[in-house]
Amino acid sequence: VSETRLYQPNDKSPLQIFVRAKKKINDIYGEIEEYVNEATTFINALHSDAEIVDKAERELFESYVYKVAAIREVLQRDHMKVAFFGRTSNGKSSVINAMLREKILPSGIGHTTNCFCQVEGSDGGEAYLIKEGSDEKLNVVNIKQLANALSQEKLSESSLVRIFWPRERCSLLRDDVVFVDSPGVDVSANLDDWIDNHCINADVFVLVLNAESTMTRAEKQFFHTVSQKLSKPNIFILNNRWDASANEPESQESVKSQHTERCIDFLTKELKVTNEKEAAERVFFVSARETLQARIEESKGNPPHMGAIAEGFQIRYFEFQDFERKFEECISQSAVKTKFQQHSSRGKSVSGDMRSMLDNIYERITIFRNLKQDQKNLLTERIQGTETQMMQVTREMKMKIHNMVEEVEEKVSKALNE
Ligand code: GTP
Ligand code: MG
Repeated sequence: VSETRLYQPNDKSPLQIFVRAKKKINDIYGEIEEYVNEATTFINALHSDAEIVDKAERELFESYVYKVAAIREVLQRDHMKVAFFGRTSNGKSSVINAMLREKILPSGIGHTTNCFCQVEGSDGGEAYLIKEGSDEKLNVVNIKQLANALSQEKLSESSLVRIFWPRERCSLLRDDVVFVDSPGVDVSANLDDWIDNHCINADVFVLVLNAESTMTRAEKQFFHTVSQKLSKPNIFILNNRWDASANEPESQESVKSQHTERCIDFLTKELKVTNEKEAAERVFFVSARETLQARIEESKGNPPHMGAIAEGFQIRYFEFQDFERKFEECISQSAVKTKFQQHSSRGKSVSGDMRSMLDNIYERITIFRNLKQDQKNLLTERIQGTETQMMQVTREMKMKIHNMVEEVEEKVSKALNE
């Protein structure tokens, strides 16, 4: 991989909401797993005593063990997913690269991205890719090789290539954000398939527009379908290539307010996914190319403005950072809600079921113990009765012997006297 500097960890990032929640829920499930295993051992031991636990119950309890293990596995894999859409060449791949702070995805003029590309973190410092339908890890040495690997293949535009990039190279990957890049919405007739295969579990969508033109029908239609299939998707809109506006300073403000109004109307009146106030916080004017260049300069120890390509760089760079902050807040909150709410209610129901079953068993054990105690008491009573009887008998015997001895003595002394 290239020699750019490693990122500085930023633990104030809103992504930490997700990271911490994931750790917490993993810990809780770890405890539940321990508890289930312990309880299973206990129940299996009771099973030998068929009076208390029967086979069906034992099997039911074992099913909890599998359930908990399955949830734990899903939990390990849970991540935050963001998907990027827009017309060809608007800069989708460039936006992702700018967020990753490195040129990872191929970008260029013309139709570049020809299938879905998912970038996710890999452990162990390795960079590789996996094509759909294969388990083979193809090592990636550099971006050129990655671009070649992607273009050589006759991949269907709906297929997915997963690119694994070392987590430690980018804080977003470290914190479990997964990026999905797509081919232009204008080049495909299979938009429904796209949504079904790649969008259902996305936490955030980013519509990348070209600020030099205006939103197209294809882009609008795509998001209409998304919002029909998903309830209130989180959508951000980036008016990219805003650096171009520097060439026409006199019309800059009016173009900006025209785009802003259209974007807000699209989110609120057309898609009805949000209100005016929130929509205003979801529309940005940026330059992905400039941001990426600035970050590459920064990683070399240079000031970011060395990556500037036009007047007004600082404002666009701030706006990109502002987008990232709002995006991080939104994606971590949404992912915690959609992913962990489900797990915690499942966890609650499993532990509730286990509890009522154990309560049942406990009740049976108590009855059983009382029964045993009753039997024991009866036995003790009987023994006590025998003891008294014995004592009485002994006492009587003693008396008898005593009398006999006296009688004998009397008889003996009488005989002696005579
Ligand atoms: P496809 O993969 O073909 O759908 O395109 P894409 O949306 O991924 O666009 P890509 O990132 O490949 O960018 C297309 C071209 O626009 C590249 O040459 C980029 O360098 C350029 N570009 C991207 N963002 C900007 C920007 O903000 N300003 C300028 N001036 N050029 C940009
Ligand atoms: Mg692309």
